[in-house]
Amino acid sequence: MADGTGVQNAECDPVDAIDGWLSESAKAFSEALLSRQRLALCQTGSLELGVHRGKFLAVLARGNDTGVVVGVDAMLDAEGRDLSPEHAAEAVEHIRRNVATASLAPVHLITARTATVTPEDLLGISSNGFSFIHIDAGHEAEDVRTDIALADAVLSTGGVIAMDDFLNVWMPGVTDGLYSYRAANPDTDIVPFAAGGNKLFLCRRADHDLYAAFATTQPHGARGRMMGCELTIF
Ligand SMILES: C[S@@+](CC[C@H](N)C(=O)[O-])C[C@H]1O[C@@H](n2cnc3c(N)ncnc32)[C@H](O)[C@@H]1O
Repeated sequence: MADGTGVQNAECDPVDAIDGWLSESAKAFSEALLSRQRLALCQTGSLELGVHRGKFLAVLARGNDTGVVVGVDAMLDAEGRDLSPEHAAEAVEHIRRNVATASLAPVHLITARTATVTPEDLLGISSNGFSFIHIDAGHEAEDVRTDIALADAVLSTGGVIAMDDFLNVWMPGVTDGLYSYRAANPDTDIVPFAAGGNKLFLCRRADHDLYAAFATTQPHGARGRMMGCELTIF
């Protein structure tokens, strides 16, 4: 929330009041990336796979004043079962209300399993692709492989992918999913450049130097290497 000085007052940030999982460090790093993309004029659409109540979608919505903001969620209950159409519609409205507390940007919500969503569906909504994609839907390896393939197909030039729960020991399918996707697609040019706040940030190999350098300008604790690439750890 603006305090009249143009400075974000973290204590009053409406995103913090939305139910979900988002560390301050991951929020700050994602917002810095979104600003960087706006300045570099490479911002297109923003996409989230797995929306829950809209916490990260709100960050994407207020960080994108150029393109379309799209969220895909199957609207499952706590046990992973489909909600009834009535309850799913209520969940969608709940997400819209939550996002609206942080941003007036319209969001396009798709109620579906991500495996049933095609690149053509997404490019039909944002024809120039997506410059920020957050993968946080199903956490089994197969779900993650499918979601990375979808993200890879619609990532625009200069875009980034954030993967939630990478290296989280409680969610082994996420790490397994990325490594097995790479093993099955040895020519993939999706590579990591930063990790922190329970997320791994990736981009195309051609953009790696740019994003790796940018990451070192943000608060961080260490540098390392992963998948043959420089990685900043925060
Ligand atoms: C961890 S939550 C997402 C949290 C959200 N990104 C946030 O910022 O709070 C996972 C979400 O993914 C959805 N989901 C799980 N498996 C899915 C699938 N295969 N396709 C689409 N959505 C799925 C669930 O309904 C749930 O809302």
